[in-house]
Amino acid sequence: MQRKYILITGGAGFIGANFIREVLKRRSDWHVLNLDALTYAGNLANLADLPPEQQARHHFVHGDIRDGALLTRLFKEYACRGVIHFAAESHVDRSITGPQAFVDTNVGGTCTLLQAALAAWQEQGRPADFRFHHVSTDEVYGSLGPDGAFSETSPYDPSSPYSASKAASDHFVRAYGRTYGLPILITNCSNNYGPYQFPEKLIPLVIDNILAGKSLPVYGDGSNVRDWLYVLDHCQALLQVFEKGRPGQTYNIGGGAERTTLEIVRELCRIVDARQGREPGSSESLIAFVTDRPGHDFRYAIDADKIKNELGWQPAHAFSDALAATVTWYLEHQEWVAGVKSGDYRQWLELNYDRRAG
Ligand code: NAD
Ligand code: TYD
Repeated sequence: MQRKYILITGGAGFIGANFIREVLKRRSDWHVLNLDALTYAGNLANLADLPPEQQARHHFVHGDIRDGALLTRLFKEYACRGVIHFAAESHVDRSITGPQAFVDTNVGGTCTLLQAALAAWQEQGRPADFRFHHVSTDEVYGSLGPDGAFSETSPYDPSSPYSASKAASDHFVRAYGRTYGLPILITNCSNNYGPYQFPEKLIPLVIDNILAGKSLPVYGDGSNVRDWLYVLDHCQALLQVFEKGRPGQTYNIGGGAERTTLEIVRELCRIVDARQGREPGSSESLIAFVTDRPGHDFRYAIDADKIKNELGWQPAHAFSDALAATVTWYLEHQEWVAGVKSGDYRQWLELNYDRRAG
């Protein structure tokens, strides 16, 4: 069979769906095999409106990366020429209330996937152009003080069960490269924002709460800093690393837009108030400082020189424009928001909110 499929895991989630939409548009020779377990965070609505020609190059399989027999069958049936691995439990707060799922999927699932990919690559005769691209996070490096930035050689120092599980998965991916020669790539990116992000993460949660007139929970004093990366800039970086990155290498990806939580929340209040014709500043009264997240990393910042210098990537979107475009997208997709929230989301939010308020 012709080796034409790329296996994308977690392609019904936030970044995976944006990535699939981008590559089907920009690479007419790509055929995507999308394997997703459709947890609360996965939603096929994210891919429902693809044009027919692109939908024909998108094959969805409802399944779990922990299912080794399924993976073996898929690698054989589709003769995949590479893997881009997005599937994960991705929310820090959920990892604090229930860490086991993060161990199971992020560590166990990644190991099962690595083993199946390795066997397939060996059976194919170890093609040099095969790639196993693992999508990871800057949170593996831990917390920064007010200065400095994470580079690819920063020591691993994860704080949350989420970041610990991603750190463990990175180590396994690197080990499969060094031990078995599997052509691996790892990218560690900063906080993404944009369309299709599940409204439990800061930006879509705050937009949703402003619209509903609900309180805007800011952890601690709101001074924690994140380096915000527009998801479409991230997708371009992933594509460049997958196509041109050197096997065995790690590339850090950041948006170069450091903001405190409070700055983000205030900016969102400003944009939504203007769009909704509300009195300027009126939504700021919804801000509620709540109990801080345990083990809350103070600051993340990315030194993206390696990907810029080696692959010529840099973010194409200015933060203020991309944030405004993100608000527009959520305002125009209220039905999507209601749909994704109707799963176990509501119940979880109530439980979590009680914990924070208590
Ligand atoms: P997400 O939570 O929106 O989506 C995760 C997807 O994985 C969902 O579609 C879910 O159904 C699927 N999934 C979960 N468990 C699975 C399993 N066992 N088998 C198959 N599919 C499963 O996550 P996201 O924000 O799109 O993140 C994608 C990747 O990028 C993750 O690996 C995450 O760690 C990493 N990352 C995300 C960010 C961010 O800001 N969102 C930042 C850095 C790194
Ligand atoms: P989040 O979107 O959960 O991403 P991460 O924890 O992976 O960085 O949170 C971004 C920042 O916003 C983080 O410092 C925690 C803070 N935050 C709040 O203050 N309130 C909230 O309701 C959420 C979800 C996050």
